[in-house]
Amino acid sequence: MNIALFGPPGAGKGTQAKELSKHYAIPHISTGDILRANVRDGTELGMKAKEYMDKGQLVPDDVLIGLIKNRLNESDCESGYLLDGYPRTIPQADALKLILEEIGKPMDAVLNIEVSDEELVARLGGRRTCSCGESYHVKFNPPEKDGVCNACGAELYQRDDDMEDVIRQRLATYNEKTKPLMNYYKDQEILVDIDGSNTVDAVFADILEVMDQFK
Ligand code: AP5
Repeated sequence: MNIALFGPPGAGKGTQAKELSKHYAIPHISTGDILRANVRDGTELGMKAKEYMDKGQLVPDDVLIGLIKNRLNESDCESGYLLDGYPRTIPQADALKLILEEIGKPMDAVLNIEVSDEELVARLGGRRTCSCGESYHVKFNPPEKDGVCNACGAELYQRDDDMEDVIRQRLATYNEKTKPLMNYYKDQEILVDIDGSNTVDAVFADILEVMDQFK
């Protein structure tokens, strides 16, 4: 299965991707997670990316295109892939098309997860993250022990870009730079709308139902 998850910040891409990756046994490729790992490790890429991420802006296309090309050429993608957070601009989508032609793995579907702006702000403002990759919400998905990761016991933190002013900027960036991709994939007849306002389990069930047609 070759899938891309599309949608605004906080739509639930990462949450759904974790389960879908297990269900279809395909790697979850989150460009946000890869960039954050580089920031944590203090790499040159991470230092460059942080400048943009902290402001709610997109990291330059050339950086992302190189990164995704390398990742898609890794051996675990032979079974398929689940893209989360890529592509986010038309040049990224054009580059992706060429990369996928080269590796012979065209996309089956782009799942467009739709959620209202009000709900997105509430979800992102309450998100708490763990360095192990787990993600929680203070109200919608709280950890068993306040501020502590269920999976690894580490202290949870709030992402720098989950502060209210940065959230608003990320939504504006999404509307300006990323939303136009909806028509790009609609024209290719691979865009499928998913109502992301339901519970996590209900959204997951809807995605599986939709993906049945691509088996
Ligand atoms: P990235 O990490 O990709 O951030 P994003 O797209 O803004 O997505 P999020 O991770 O914020 O949200 P999500 O949709 O995954 O929601 P989640 O499942 O966590 O990118 C960060 C930055 O990196 C970008 O701003 C940019 O600077 C840079 N970057 C990354 N990719 C790039 C690219 N291709 N080009 C250029 N720059 C790039 O859920 C959110 C919260 O809601 C959680 O608390 C969760 O528990 C809760 N939740 C989820 N689903 C539900 C539900 N159904 N009901 C109730 N709560 C829910």
